Amino acid sequence: MLLFCNKCGRSPPVFFRPYSGERLCRGCFLRSVEKQVRQTVSKYRMFREQDKIAVALSGGKDSLALLYILHRIEKNFPKARLFALTVDEGIPHYREEAVKNARKACEELNVEHVVVSFRELYGFTLQTLAEKIKDIRGEMTPCSYCGVLRRRALNKVAREMGADKLATAHTLDDEVQTMLLNLVHGDIRRISRVEAVTPGAEKLVQRVKPFSEVPENEVALYAYLKGVDFQSSICPYAPQALRTEVREFVNRLEARHPGSKFKLYRSFEKLKPAVKASFPSQLSQCQLCGEPASQPLCEPCRLLESLRAKFPKL
Ligand code: FES
Ligand code: ZN
Repeated sequence: MLLFCNKCGRSPPVFFRPYSGERLCRGCFLRSVEKQVRQTVSKYRMFREQDKIAVALSGGKDSLALLYILHRIEKNFPKARLFALTVDEGIPHYREEAVKNARKACEELNVEHVVVSFRELYGFTLQTLAEKIKDIRGEMTPCSYCGVLRRRALNKVAREMGADKLATAHTLDDEVQTMLLNLVHGDIRRISRVEAVTPGAEKLVQRVKPFSEVPENEVALYAYLKGVDFQSSICPYAPQALRTEVREFVNRLEARHPGSKFKLYRSFEKLKPAVKASFPSQLSQCQLCGEPASQPLCEPCRLLESLRAKFPKL
């Protein structure tokens, strides 16, 4: 039996979307992802007409797909400006390829590209840090330092570049996994911080996540169908055992009960106002570096201080 795309009825389908029952051809699939992103952008009012938007561009498939889509959407906001921001943590044989892909995409789209490294910002690479901490037992893995230090780097450089928004490529899957992980860790307060648009505060560039309602496999297929060159190797420091288990659990659930990811996401959305009201968070400035902090020292400074106490020569 010859099947045709449910939308246009003309071309053969390349994708079946279990939660909606649609079979879509290449063109209709690409348009449907772009439409979903446009809807998310307008639902959460992510951009204003004259925004300067920094796109966090790691060089992986999600961030490259985000750059391509925002570049298209930007045409509807002629006064908005877009630039890409890549953080090079210093992971040999891994990050170089990603930075190369990021650079290539920016050249192709004629988007300004800024690359900053951990070495410039913190004086060491993630590789050096990983070697130092490998003998210390504890919960902190290279990846847990990396996440905190990368977020700081993105915010600081985006702000210095005059960005009004910082767009990241977190997908529906990332958001659901993070919220479930917070539950597993017993840290309910953090659920309210997983938001499609963060409020923004002094020195804190507002973060927006245009893919927060697009499943990860659709973002990946979008990147693939667009012929985006992306890195397929996985970061050597990304074991994150618990997140992997949560990801597998959610994917199993979705396979057996299509639409579960969206339902989990919506349930958390309904819970968040109550969580926020129970745990109001106040931002002030870090006593050491002056960056935004919810405690006397910001999280990066707390990590860096404890590292330097153990390894004065880091
Ligand atoms: Fe976390 Fe690479 S250090 S993914
Ligand atoms: Zn600080």
